[in-house]
Amino acid sequence: MELIKDIDIIQAKDTPTETCNTPRISKNNAQKGQRRLYIESYGCQMNFSDSEIVSAIMEKEGFGTTASYEEADLVFLNTCSIREKAEQTVRNRLRHINAIKKQKPQMLVGVLGCMAERLKTKLLEEEKIVDLVVGPDAYRDLPKLIQEVDNGDKAVNVLLSREETYADISPVRLNSNGVTAFISIMRGCDNMCSFCVVPFTRGRERSRDPHSIVSEAQDLYSNGYKEVTLLGQNVDSYKWGGQANKKQTDKIEKEGKKVINFANLLEMVAQVSPELRVRFSTSHPKDITDEVLHTMAKYENICNYIHLPVQSGNNRVLELMNRTYTREWYLDRVRAIREIIGEDCGVSSDMITGFCTETEEEHQETLSLMREVKYDFSYMFFYSERPGTLADRKYEDDVPLDVKKRRLQEIISLQNEHALARNQRGIDKIHKVLVEGISKRNKNELKGRNSANKVVIFPKEKYKKGDYVNVLVTNCTGATLFGKAVS
Ligand code: SAH
Ligand code: SF4
Ligand code: F3S
Repeated sequence: MELIKDIDIIQAKDTPTETCNTPRISKNNAQKGQRRLYIESYGCQMNFSDSEIVSAIMEKEGFGTTASYEEADLVFLNTCSIREKAEQTVRNRLRHINAIKKQKPQMLVGVLGCMAERLKTKLLEEEKIVDLVVGPDAYRDLPKLIQEVDNGDKAVNVLLSREETYADISPVRLNSNGVTAFISIMRGCDNMCSFCVVPFTRGRERSRDPHSIVSEAQDLYSNGYKEVTLLGQNVDSYKWGGQANKKQTDKIEKEGKKVINFANLLEMVAQVSPELRVRFSTSHPKDITDEVLHTMAKYENICNYIHLPVQSGNNRVLELMNRTYTREWYLDRVRAIREIIGEDCGVSSDMITGFCTETEEEHQETLSLMREVKYDFSYMFFYSERPGTLADRKYEDDVPLDVKKRRLQEIISLQNEHALARNQRGIDKIHKVLVEGISKRNKNELKGRNSANKVVIFPKEKYKKGDYVNVLVTNCTGATLFGKAVS
């Protein structure tokens, strides 16, 4: 049990789209004389993407970003509430920043994102160091809020919106490798999975104007980017009928008017250039359509990779989780993926062990589902009760922590076997790799990804970042493919 004491989340190194406990930090772009903003982001890619919007808003206010909080005038933590540990990490970080603030009392500290939204003014009471609290839909209000704190007051805005998508704001790319970038296509979530805090912290689902999405993709491409990942909590329910508000869009659709769905949007972005790869995340099993799969099959530049979180392999648990699909439905979607796109399409998942009342047999069904699917990759967690969620209000968190952790270790071990077996299928095959940069371990090697989102390492030779290279894979681990460029 010792071994997994601290495992709350299993994070694949270099995987772009998911929750992690390692923060992303702003880079130095402040000019002399500018006020300096340090922004540290936790949680999912949506949060990282929001930090880029926040930086754009702050840049207009005359702030430049810095990579060092010691030299910052303003420190922002863009926070995550998904599991208790995520919040604990932020609270520890605030302790640490407090020590710096003691020597630099003029430094201002803001908490943004999901924890700000969940805790609201309580955060000001609980964490004395915090000067401002700003929820994910209130970033346009930052200039006014900063003015308030400059005047010596505390400032809070945690209003959620049914319309805000920040469609018109060009993000300042903070951690970019110059090759791959993320584009938010929607915000919020209407699903109400019983374990999940996101609907409370991010508000109602709304979609962004497709033209602003396409034009962001075009801008990125003309600035040398070669890959975009379209982001949303449930991309398959993307829908645009002239405005962001989902209720209105549903009404327009009912009246028989044409709306743009996710398959249509995917096609629009794929047509920006055949040289621009398109990925997306996250797909909800209840909503992913054959139309999306056929669109993926039609365009070579839409990557063959789908993140399709199952959460549990047992129908009773899925129902308690309010996932609104069954094991059979889920397996049928995986069958459709492999039939329409092909056996080598990367499929990954999120899974939770020890959800309320989960029995040993039900846990075994998660393992058996994994054996049927054989995921390329999974993010695995033990259940962490979140205040205010449906599960918190309705069910008892009755699986002991050591059982949750033991079950987690079992799914991790099985996943490791599957990841290796799936990677071994790639040996002796040629993979089209988009180079993202130099390998961390060896400067004479390059690192990139194939279409199925697998990391591929190969000798540098004449190739460089941003190139598409055909690599013959000769060897692998569960996490990485190794090979050599072929002409
Ligand atoms: N929108 C995505 C998931 C976003 S949260 C989807 O529907 O799949 C990312 C993952 O965190 C979830 O898929 C789930 O596996 C995990 N998660 C969410 N709430 C959790 C909780 N209370 N305890 C443990 N894991 C949780
Ligand atoms: Fe949370 Fe479910 Fe929405 Fe995903 S789909 S963000 S798990 S409520
Ligand atoms: Fe993302 Fe965490 Fe919020 S996963 S949506 S930052 S709760």
